[in-house]
Amino acid sequence: MSTVTAPTTGTASAAEQIAAIEAHAAHNYHPLEVVIARGEGAWVTDVDGRRYLDCLAAYSAVNFGHGHPALLAAAHEQLDRLTLTSRAFHHDRMAEFVTELAALAGKDVVVPMNTGAEAVETAIKVARKHASQVRGIAVPEIVVASGNFHGRTTTIVSFSDDALAREGYGPFTPGFVTVPYGDADALAAALTENTAAVLLESIQGEAGVVVPPPDYFARVRAVTAERGVLLIADEIQSGLARTGETFAISHDGVEPDMYLLGKALGGGIVPVSAVVGDADVLGVLTPGTHGSTFGGNPLAAAVATAVVRLLRTGEYQERSRVLGEQLHTGLHALVGHGVSAVRGRGLWAGVDIDPAVGTARDVALRLMARGVLAKDTHTRTLRLAPPLVVSADEVKWLLEQLREALEG
Ligand SMILES: Cc1ncc(COP(=O)(O)O)c(C=O)c1O
Repeated sequence: MSTVTAPTTGTASAAEQIAAIEAHAAHNYHPLEVVIARGEGAWVTDVDGRRYLDCLAAYSAVNFGHGHPALLAAAHEQLDRLTLTSRAFHHDRMAEFVTELAALAGKDVVVPMNTGAEAVETAIKVARKHASQVRGIAVPEIVVASGNFHGRTTTIVSFSDDALAREGYGPFTPGFVTVPYGDADALAAALTENTAAVLLESIQGEAGVVVPPPDYFARVRAVTAERGVLLIADEIQSGLARTGETFAISHDGVEPDMYLLGKALGGGIVPVSAVVGDADVLGVLTPGTHGSTFGGNPLAAAVATAVVRLLRTGEYQERSRVLGEQLHTGLHALVGHGVSAVRGRGLWAGVDIDPAVGTARDVALRLMARGVLAKDTHTRTLRLAPPLVVSADEVKWLLEQLREALEG
């Protein structure tokens, strides 16, 4: 029986709240010691009134900034009217959501789900069923890449090569073949008559914002098309304007068979994910074969439709392109000054920290003390992904804070 008393939100100190969280929330995260109480645009404020530039943006889920007025308005209007029906009935926000999202992706059909992992699971099921029903493959295989991160379900961690993500969670789901990310020859060599699909992140986020070679996706697309293998692009973190295009894979002029979307699709308000593809692929789903009680609910559909409309303006893609160039120019100037390498595209960067300076978490802590929230990944890499509403002055300020944090 616990002896910790629940602190009252709004009156408890940060330390009291962290103690209660430590006592009663499972320790499957290692957050920085900040307790955020408000968010506005690219900024958040903690319970003590300190402001921070949010340079993680909830792993791209807050691409449009905290409390974007158009997204909040869509949510408020919908909250007052209708929030959940289940898919047992139609509701009046679904038509515009699926029609407009499919059009944004240049595809026919949307499978609405909630979390990113559910979109990945959906695509795996669709790929297997498509292989079995359309191509007569008895035991379908899916080719994935080393260093991948597609979520946390039992099946998804089955094909992760991150030992920590897998430890103790076996037995694992079979049917996956891993090839090095960015190596089109290795991928082509791994395709067999049993290959149903290739599942790839357009840019590997968790691996440290790893951008594949320029001709990689064109070659992957050519070989998969030739062999009748589906190409599934996981755009859950890289998509929806983060890199300067609506989809990161568009930089390579490639159209996959299925786009996996999540995070920013929910406007930072509700979890919304989706698989978007053509009718001949997603047509394998029939009543009773897949679903989710909350998938495509009226609140989610209203917010996600507002997100699609923001994306249609092109404003956020443009901001990411222009400000991303400023960010990357500034970060490259730090190479040799505490930074050993910089990768990324648009307003998204993986910054490898020189071990002489400390770990990436050390730098994240120094940045926090300077009013910048950022997240480390894999010990050495600091990940920067501010909301796309960030200004040029704020990017300049961020670069100054990073330069000073690297100096100690
Ligand atoms: C590329 C990618 N795919 C899938 C996921 C899983 O999304 P969720 O955490 O919403 O399940 C993530 C989450 O970070 C991701 O980065």
